[in-house]
Amino acid sequence: MAGSSGWRRGHGLWRRGARGRRGRVAGKVALVTGAAGGLGRSHVRRLAEEGADLVVVDLCGPVDTVPYPQSTPEQLDDAVEEARALGRRVVARRADVRDRAALQEAVDAGLDAFGRLDVVVANAGIAPLLVEDRVEAWHDAIGVNLTGTFHTVEVAVPSMVAAERGGSIVLVSSTAGLVGIGGASNGGLGYAASKHGVVGLMRTYANNLAPHSIRVNSVHPTGVATPMVTDPAVVAFVAQDPVLSATAPNALPVATVEPVDVSNAILWLASDEARYVTGVTLPVDAGFINRR
Ligand SMILES: NC(=O)c1ccc[n+]([C@@H]2O[C@H](COP(=O)([O-])OP(=O)(O)OC[C@H]3O[C@@H](n4cnc5c(N)ncnc54)[C@H](O)[C@@H]3O)[C@@H](O)[C@H]2O)c1
Repeated sequence: MAGSSGWRRGHGLWRRGARGRRGRVAGKVALVTGAAGGLGRSHVRRLAEEGADLVVVDLCGPVDTVPYPQSTPEQLDDAVEEARALGRRVVARRADVRDRAALQEAVDAGLDAFGRLDVVVANAGIAPLLVEDRVEAWHDAIGVNLTGTFHTVEVAVPSMVAAERGGSIVLVSSTAGLVGIGGASNGGLGYAASKHGVVGLMRTYANNLAPHSIRVNSVHPTGVATPMVTDPAVVAFVAQDPVLSATAPNALPVATVEPVDVSNAILWLASDEARYVTGVTLPVDAGFINRR
């Protein structure tokens, strides 16, 4: 395939900065959860830059056991404005991924507006890492990170199957979804369990949906420079946990990666460049997993 004229033509057109190029996800519609801040905002930007119209969802409010600030409605507005300034159409909803009906309403509004859904990025997630540990942190981690991911896929898939155009679903897990890190707190265990659970969802959906040419993959970032990692409350939590504070650093000489590094991996999985890639756990981890 690499030698065919189609591939060469596509490769040239997709090159960043090429004049008049079609974006790598041009003509597609992408759903992104947790879109207002951190990684989600970056996914929205990259998908918009590469031509996708968007359905964006964020809670825009606090989760009781999360010690760092969640995004605000103004941040969701900013994400929408940025994508529109790039020439993209956007449907935005404030919704909690734990609320399946609210997510369904968001997807239905996107289908009404755009008539299709091609890409799903289940990104919304929390790290309820509390110095003053509480069992509710376990339930919140499972509720948002695992049940929320399940809801996101479930509300999106029927329209994708019915459209018979295939598609790409990307589930945002973590290095904590591949190895036993997370520490001993309720929230840390919930985080690790939920992110491993996302891999189970990914592998099973990949098999279930392959006959419909819908690909399902997960990405596994190491620490990324977002409030989930940089906020003083999280830094304090890690410092007082002997297991977490002794965790070996990344192999590559960087403490954290940037949101765009994760977004670029997601963009590739979302695009037709990855058209035969499914069932894959893709680390974006500066070698963190490999050195363990
Ligand atoms: N930052 C990291 O180091 C890191 C590393 C590995 C994996 N991840 C994963 O990446 C994803 C994004 O994390 P981030 O670092 O951008 O975090 P973040 O806190 O910066 O952003 C998370 C976004 O999700 C939203 N959100 C939270 N709960 C929600 C809910 N119930 N429903 C809808 N939206 C909700 C928040 O408002 C926020 O906009 C998460 O799944 C996280 O577990 C992050």
